[in-house]
Order: sequence, then structure tokens, then C-alpha cells
Amino acid sequence: MTDPRHFLFLSSSCRSGGNTETLAQTAAAKLPASVRQTWLRHVDLPLPPFVDIRHSGDGTYPMPEGNGRVLLDATLAATDLVFVAPVYWYGLPADAKLYLDHWSGWMRLPGVDFRPRMAGKTMWAITMLSDRDTAQADPLLGCLQWTAKYLGMRWGGSLLGYGNKPGDVLVDEAALTRANTLFAA
Ligand SMILES: Cc1cc2nc3c(=O)[nH]c(=O)nc-3n(C[C@H](O)[C@H](O)[C@H](O)COP(=O)(O)O)c2cc1C
Repeated sequence: MTDPRHFLFLSSSCRSGGNTETLAQTAAAKLPASVRQTWLRHVDLPLPPFVDIRHSGDGTYPMPEGNGRVLLDATLAATDLVFVAPVYWYGLPADAKLYLDHWSGWMRLPGVDFRPRMAGKTMWAITMLSDRDTAQADPLLGCLQWTAKYLGMRWGGSLLGYGNKPGDVLVDEAALTRANTLFAA
């Protein structure tokens, strides 16, 4: 039987080859080959500013074009959505937050059924901190957990790494060990 799982890894680091992607690749390497993986970077797919038109006109949004459509289609196609997002000022990087803001519009696209289609998917977070106090990741994790709850998504789990310059995470034994089991059923 075909494996229905399709993991979308969405990276919001503002550099390539950073620690968060390295940690995510370590975790993803443990997924069975039968699980489909799609990797996207927000820096490659910049979104326009989000405009709140919920309470003007009929409150519906036009179908996104360009990068917005790519991200919408990738989001809907996934069974598992992995935020590969370093802690930036205790929260999500701006690109990841903007992507979430666009969900508000995507929920109001006629005929797309975004909200019911998101329900039942699983959300995960892989993040990095340069501070030893892991509580600094709480706002980032809280934002994602509340969002998952709002959309009726399952929370899969989180993985936190420690480091600052690229490659630092490769000596974070605790994070690498947890990466090996993050996606275990
Ligand atoms: C704009 C910015 C804000 C940051 N804010 C925090 C922070 O609030 N707490 C923290 O521990 N590290 C913070 N860091 C450090 C990053 O989380 C750390 O360098 C991480 O390794 C970056 O991920 P990357 O290597 O995947 O790009 C910040 C880094 C940047 C560039």
C-alpha cells in the first residue's frame, strides 16, 4: 500500500545552510523512504504584504498567484507541516509569520475549504536558539501550537537545537539524538 504521508519542510531562516535546516535534515533522514518530502524556503518564495480585507466587500479573498499559490498548494498537499524556523527575537522569523498571516486570507478563498482541509494535518516545529535558556523559544512554539489548535491540526512535536553560527548544531548531542526519533511513529 502507498504511504499517504507527505512532509512539507518550510524553512524560514534568512540564510541557507544554517543550523535549523541542518537539524531538520537530520530528523528527515530518519523518515522512511516511502514518506514523500517537499522542502521549500521562504526566502525563495517571498510573499506580498498581507492585507486584511475580511470586513470589506463580501469578505472573500482572490486566489493567490505566484509564490502565494505555490505555498498554498504545497500546504494543502502536505499531511505534515514542519516549520523549520530559528528563534528570531523570541518568536518566528518574519517570513514564517507572514505566511501564517496569509492563512487568514486562504481561509476565505471561495471553494478552497482551507480550514477543513487543514484539520487533521500534523504540525511540527524544528527550531534553534543561541541562548541556553530554552524558554526563549516559548513564544515561537506557543504561536505555532495555538495556530494548530485553531485550525484543528494535530501537534506532532518540537525539536530545539542550541547554536549560533552555521554548524554549531552538529555538536549539540542532545538535539541530534532527539532528531533521530522526532518523526518516529
Ligand atoms: C534576527 C535574529 C534574532 C535572533 N533572536 C534570538 C533570540 O531571541 N534568542 C536566541 O536564543 N537566539 C536568537 N538568534 C540567534 C539564532 O536563533 C541562531 O543564530 C540560530 O542558529 C539561527 O538559525 P540558522 O543557523 O538556522 O539560521 C537570533 C538571530 C537573528 C539573526
